[in-house]
Parts: sequence; C-alpha cells; structure tokens
Amino acid sequence: MKKILVAITGASAMLYLQSFLEMLAGADIIVHGICSDAGEKVLEIEHSCGSSELPAVSRWFDCRDFAAPPASGSAGYDAMIVIPCSMGTLAAVASGITSNLIHRSADVMLKEGKKLILVTRETPLNRTHLKNMLAAHDAGATICPPHPGFYLRPETLKDAAMTFSWRLGDQLGLDTKDRKRWGEET
Ligand SMILES: Cc1cc2nc3c(=O)[nH]c(=O)nc-3n(C[C@H](O)[C@H](O)[C@H](O)COP(=O)(O)O)c2cc1C
Repeated sequence: MKKILVAITGASAMLYLQSFLEMLAGADIIVHGICSDAGEKVLEIEHSCGSSELPAVSRWFDCRDFAAPPASGSAGYDAMIVIPCSMGTLAAVASGITSNLIHRSADVMLKEGKKLILVTRETPLNRTHLKNMLAAHDAGATICPPHPGFYLRPETLKDAAMTFSWRLGDQLGLDTKDRKRWGEET
C-alpha cells in the first residue's frame, strides 16, 4: 500500500488541501501529516478548523519533532506533498535549510530520490520566489501551483478545486475515482 506524507504550511488556498484530502480519503493509501504553526493559523482563518479535524490523515506529527519517522529516509514514504506550500517553506526546501520537520522531511525525500510535490502559492511572484522554484525543481521537486482545469467546466469552487486534486492524483500515481479527463466521454 502506498504511504504518503502530507505537509501543510501557512499559505492561502486551503480549499485545495480540503479537496485533495477528500480525494485521498477514497483511495487505498496510508496518509500521515505535519502542519506548521502558520498552517494551523491559515486553516483556522480560511476554514475555521484545525489540522486534526481534516479527513484521510491517520497519524499527525508535531512540526518541531525531529525524532518523528519522516525525519529519516528509513520511514519509507513513497511521496510527500506540501499543500499549500508557502514561499518560506519553498525557500527552506530550495536551500536545504531544515529548521522544522516539514523542511527536514522534504530534504529527506529529495536525498532519497522520492517524489516531492510543492503546491506553491503566492501572487505576484518576486525574483527570489522564482529562483527558489527553479532551485527546488533542479533538486528534484515538482512545482505544482494550484490551478484548476477550467476546460473541464467546473460549476462550483469545490468542483474547481477537485480538477486540480485530480492532477495531483496523477502525479502520485493514484487511481482516482470519477476523475474527468479532457477528451474522454462523460
Ligand atoms: C491568512 C494568511 C495567508 C497567507 N498566505 C500566504 C501565501 O499565500 N503564500 C505565502 O508564501 N505566505 C502566506 N502567508 C504568510 C505565511 O504564513 C508566513 O510567511 C509563514 O511564516 C510561513 O511559515 P511556514 O512555511 O512554516 O508555514 C499567509 C499568512 C496568513 C496569515
């Protein structure tokens, strides 16, 4: 069974996180989670909830706990996704600075040659953000900003977010049910 690590940082667009976790809840995978302090803050602001109330995640780790399993490559995660990924966390990943468990786990995924997806969220982007995205990409991360597939004609915000979650599911090699694809009959 696939084992995926989901990290939440303090960027806007928690709607995409909700949608992604709802999709994972229907998949046959093990999901573990880490949430930064800023992630908790933005979750509270945007969705009036805390990380422990989110679906799909069976085990949470404290962001300050460097002795938690994801701090070691031996924990055996197949993939990690940072959703949403703040520019601060992007900078840490791009530079290899590991000052919390999210940064360390991302660094571990890169050194192990495992899939690391960064759902980077900021607008507009300054030169440092752009340089950090390229550096993280060159180190092996997949930069995946949250953009819905409007060509699939979603009717609600939730539907729009799900079109993006499907793309993440493709990145993770998940067999997502009811997934719409361009060019396929509905
Ligand atoms: C409501 C709110 C929205 C924010 N949105 C973003 C954002 O979209 N992108 C970003 O890089 N930072 C955003 N921030 C700032 C980050 O939370 C802040 O830089 C924080 O230090 C990131 O820490 P973390 O990466 O450890 O979660 C936001 C903060 C708040 C309170």
